[in-house]
Amino acid sequence: MDGKQKSPQDALDHEFANSTTCHGASRIANAKNRPHMTMWTLVFLAAFGLCTWQVSDRFQNYFAYRTGTEIDVQLESELNFPAVTICNFNRIRASGVSINDQLYLGAAFYIPTLVGDPEALNAYLNGVDWDSFGASAELLGDYAGYTRRNGFVLDNSTLLECFWRGRPCYAENFTHVFTTYGNCWTFNGDKNSPLKQTTPGAGNGLKMTLDILTDEYTENPLTGYLEYGLVFQVHDQNEPPRPELVGTAVAPGSHTYASTFQTHYKNEPSPWGQCDPKKGQNYLDYYDTYTLPGCLLECRAKLVESCGCRPMYYPGTLDYCSPLNLSSCVLPTLATFLQENNEFDACGCTVPCEHTSYHTTVSYAGYPSPQAASYLETVFNVSRGYSSVNIVLLDVYYHELRSTTLEQFKAVTQSGLISDVGGQLGFFIGVSVITLFEFFEYLVMKFLVFACYSKMESETEKPDREQSTKENSSVPPENKGALATELQTMPKTQKGLAEIQVS
Ligand SMILES: *[C@@H]1O[C@H](CO)[C@@H](O)[C@H](O)[C@H]1NC(C)=O
Ligand SMILES: *[C@@H]1O[C@H](CO)[C@@H](O)[C@H](O)[C@H]1NC(C)=O
Ligand SMILES: *[C@@H]1O[C@H](CO)[C@@H](O)[C@H](O)[C@H]1NC(C)=O
Ligand SMILES: *[C@@H]1O[C@H](CO)[C@@H](O)[C@H](O)[C@H]1NC(C)=O
Ligand SMILES: *[C@@H]1O[C@H](CO)[C@@H](O)[C@H](O)[C@H]1NC(C)=O
Repeated sequence: MDGKQKSPQDALDHEFANSTTCHGASRIANAKNRPHMTMWTLVFLAAFGLCTWQVSDRFQNYFAYRTGTEIDVQLESELNFPAVTICNFNRIRASGVSINDQLYLGAAFYIPTLVGDPEALNAYLNGVDWDSFGASAELLGDYAGYTRRNGFVLDNSTLLECFWRGRPCYAENFTHVFTTYGNCWTFNGDKNSPLKQTTPGAGNGLKMTLDILTDEYTENPLTGYLEYGLVFQVHDQNEPPRPELVGTAVAPGSHTYASTFQTHYKNEPSPWGQCDPKKGQNYLDYYDTYTLPGCLLECRAKLVESCGCRPMYYPGTLDYCSPLNLSSCVLPTLATFLQENNEFDACGCTVPCEHTSYHTTVSYAGYPSPQAASYLETVFNVSRGYSSVNIVLLDVYYHELRSTTLEQFKAVTQSGLISDVGGQLGFFIGVSVITLFEFFEYLVMKFLVFACYSKMESETEKPDREQSTKENSSVPPENKGALATELQTMPKTQKGLAEIQVS
């Protein structure tokens, strides 16, 4: 601009610096004198440095994948009632099964207690003559069917009274499910038509009076449960019950108030949260909906497939295990696996992206009161002494018709990152996406000019028409014609070319 001769490269640089939307560059290019230019260069470099620091900070912020949680509490006029599964500590009822069967089961269930001591285990397995027990063919051949018939059965002799929202309910309203407690019974387990609750409070939900038949207990104190009572679990219809892990125990002779409330969880997929969106409907083999308990049960079932059978409380297609196979193969295999592994990692089971949980708070009152005992005697035809060790009154109800949603969200979203980075670039050096394209265009031009220039250097006589037309579009219009004609006539020296460019 000050009359000095310039190469086409310089001209391009200058034009870019002048026209770019990155302000610093034109300030430097148009500086009036050297100190001015130095000042602008320093300002530009400082701004560029700050910008780089801030932008890298913003990227770090994004790639930390931080999350937050949003809590949303809604009072509802109607809520789906959860499924309620009840089990008895007694797996097999005494009446109807022979003493031989009971002894056989006791001996079989003793095996897992010896797993830590292989020598004792071998000695035990070799020492016991299993045939000598004279166990029934029914027990040996079909342990699941045997448990189904002789376990905890819900009928009008054990379910003394049942009310759902004040209306009577019956044993037919419960569905059977196997767990490690043998027979368990689920109320409202149908996920397609769950019961709705419109009234909170004790007495408005499910209220059951049960006879746990303590006299029928066959649990061997060496190998089985020492307790008597019920175990119940309040759970989502999509989740298979696992009362042995998350159940709540209830003692007879008490009125148990189980007040529950509903919480929805919505999780972000990895790497923000831990859920995997692929694990949704039809991901599991034996359950419609992906749930953590379902995944763990399937994993355990696969793990013990090597035993050639499956316990009745695991899903699958294999035959049910006999008591002996259960004790000598399935339980030891599982115990070893759980000792050596973290079940969640080894099974690849993660939390679902969305699920519903029911949290239950339990409180107890003595039941029946001395005055009520005589009333019960007439209603249920049970003696005072009997009811204190046999009768369980369980009330499951909503504490409040309130649904809480806990939603995980990304603390920094992609658009958040873009606006952060854009803000820093714009604020410090005035760069936008358009500027990036300008810079890209400038680089392409620079390359073309360079390529053309080296070609002219080598082919002094025959200029390349094509190259010059390309250049046509890149240099200012007033240079184009001159460049095109001069290329053919002039000796192509750096000086000559430079003169063309100076318009
Ligand atoms: C209980 O059920 C049995 C068979 O299902 C039936 O015969 C009996 O009448 C019932 N008892 C009562 C009190 O409902
Ligand atoms: C219980 O079952 C009976 C008959 O099967 C049905 O009429 C009733 O609606 C059911 N009650 C509940 C609460 O599901
Ligand atoms: C149980 O184990 C025995 C050998 O220990 C085997 O012969 C039998 O087939 C197994 N039963 C099942 C149902 O897998
Ligand atoms: C009450 O129970 C006793 C035995 O516990 C039985 O003999 C009697 O028949 C029962 N009474 C009624 C009305 O069911
Ligand atoms: C090159 O410039 C000349 C004169 O300005 C014009 O006539 C010609 O169309 C241009 N060629 C291209 C490819 O733009």
